[in-house]
Amino acid sequence: EPPRIVVPKARAEPEEVDDGKKKVTIFFGTQTGTAEGFAKALAEEAKARYQQAKFRVLDLDDYAADDEDYEEKMKKETLAFFFLATYGDGEPTDNAARFYKWFTEGKEKGDWLKNLQYGVFGLGNRQYEHFNKIAIVVDNLIAEQGGNRLVPVGLGDDDQCIEDDFTAWRELVWPELDKLLRDEDDSSAATPYTAAVLEYRAVFHDQTDESILENGSANGYANGNSVYDAQHPCRVIVAVKRELHTPLSDRSCTHLEFDIAGTGLAYETGDHVGVYCENLLETVEEAERLLNMPPQTYFSLHTDKEDGTPLSGGALPPPFSPCTLRTALTRYADLLNAPKKTALTALAAHASDPSEAERLRHLASPDGKEEYAQYVVSSQRSLLEVMADFPSAKPPLGVFFAAVAPRLQPRYYSISSSPKIAPNRINVTCALVYEKTPTGRIHKGVCSTWMKNAVPSEESLDCSAAPVFVRTSNFRLPADPKVPIIMIGPGTGLAPFRGFLQERLALKESGAELGPAILFFGCRNSKMDFIYEDELSNFVKAGIISELVLAFSREGPTKEYVQHKMAQRALDLWNIISEGGYIYVCGDAKGMARDVHRTLHTIVQEQGSLDSSKTESFVKNLQMTGRYLRDVW
Ligand code: 2AM
Repeated sequence: EPPRIVVPKARAEPEEVDDGKKKVTIFFGTQTGTAEGFAKALAEEAKARYQQAKFRVLDLDDYAADDEDYEEKMKKETLAFFFLATYGDGEPTDNAARFYKWFTEGKEKGDWLKNLQYGVFGLGNRQYEHFNKIAIVVDNLIAEQGGNRLVPVGLGDDDQCIEDDFTAWRELVWPELDKLLRDEDDSSAATPYTAAVLEYRAVFHDQTDESILENGSANGYANGNSVYDAQHPCRVIVAVKRELHTPLSDRSCTHLEFDIAGTGLAYETGDHVGVYCENLLETVEEAERLLNMPPQTYFSLHTDKEDGTPLSGGALPPPFSPCTLRTALTRYADLLNAPKKTALTALAAHASDPSEAERLRHLASPDGKEEYAQYVVSSQRSLLEVMADFPSAKPPLGVFFAAVAPRLQPRYYSISSSPKIAPNRINVTCALVYEKTPTGRIHKGVCSTWMKNAVPSEESLDCSAAPVFVRTSNFRLPADPKVPIIMIGPGTGLAPFRGFLQERLALKESGAELGPAILFFGCRNSKMDFIYEDELSNFVKAGIISELVLAFSREGPTKEYVQHKMAQRALDLWNIISEGGYIYVCGDAKGMARDVHRTLHTIVQEQGSLDSSKTESFVKNLQMTGRYLRDVW
């Protein structure tokens, strides 16, 4: 496979004048903006506390152009903090991937970081196996290479309240910074700091002004970029939509095909697609009602003050040029997730009823910790539900988009096609999220609902479109098609394997000899949610799958899962593994992938007659050598 060309994003930094101020660098590796938000919050408060120091907040990708540049620059750092999120199967965020690879693989050991004093805060989720792996690894490596750790690594847990974890960790940071950055006669640190509510400047426009009339390209989603990424997505239309469950099923799973012909967008088998979807009209109308503003309000947002100086926090530029409130709420506002404590604080600042303001402030305060956990987190209250409970809180648009509603994030899907068979189509296989929350609200997943409702071009000229981009993955077939493979993918975990099978079909048609391929698939009931059943049986007939092993969890008296089927086939699997075969797992990380992982250990241990530590290192080695790959969420 040809190497990917990585375009360095580093910008030239102006040479800093040495004004004798101590410099503090705050790095972030962020995917959805939480790590970045914490980095900025730390910087803001630190700026207010320590006037004798200079703080800068940096995206790890923007920091350095290449490995040497990383080394050059890191060597000069004397005081730094790192905010690092861990994703999926213990991976760094996209914008920390280059740094992480260089730092963990490239650098020779030594005490080259002996001048560095540092702290690391991790963002992860305890439900996952590799809880905060990236932060822990980086924290240890810096220490090993001579760095002086100021505070223990912070283990932020998104399963609970990660904002509280951050606040607690930050309290450990101040005494250390007091020692390093506080002048004897500096009393500023003694004054308690209250975080300012972040705010954009909203400008309202007259919609008849022709020069600013809304058009597709003005909203940052124009095609024509040579490289598409999360910041530069490509607007594509939906060509095909199909329901994959039978009418007997009470759930839904959508097969969608995006038409990428002529866009320049390309992908490879095993890649992911990021999709920017839209909120439902009913959700948007509720938000308009709660904000008490007409949907046709025409406005733009700016991060500078009237005099042109940046607003505190250096907020990301708002993603849109002038548009209606209806459009802004539809495309850019996350309205259904539970509000963060900072959002409650911002709402409190704009609640006209003092008792509502008081209660919101309490919920966001350390004293209100238990109540927040109950009222917001456990109840899965959406931002809109909370706003409905506090009707006097009417934040202005500049506050709403900066501090109350987070930016609507793209959703990632494993692409379920291969460019060898479908060069002009990106296929997605998406289960509908539709659940009742503890408050009785029906939670409709934003993107899965959008996909289920999408209108394909084969049905109407007035079809649905979405901004999308491709994210490269390492989930790839072996270079040699003769190498045997084991695929484990229940439910929508089947998605990337449909791509694999299409690719194998193309290989076979071009004359290649295929090695054995076993597919373990599981679903509830063969008559309800056995997705792509016909296609799979055709792949079997054509010899693309040598064996299809099925587990139906709700047909018989006992649950049959893919890992039970694996255990029954222990000897066969062991033979494939010990002869150099590859194992692929795709699907739910917390349940299925964890259980499959355990089963794999058991198979290796029993069939290979290994003790438990040898088993551990055997499986680790499979992972290190890229023969055991997981695409899990
Ligand atoms: P269940 O819903 O009946 O429990 C696809 O979602 C399939 O994966 C379903 O049949 C589902 O079964 C099953 N599944 C749920 N939890 C699992 C786990 N921990 N390991 C393997 N399969 C699981």
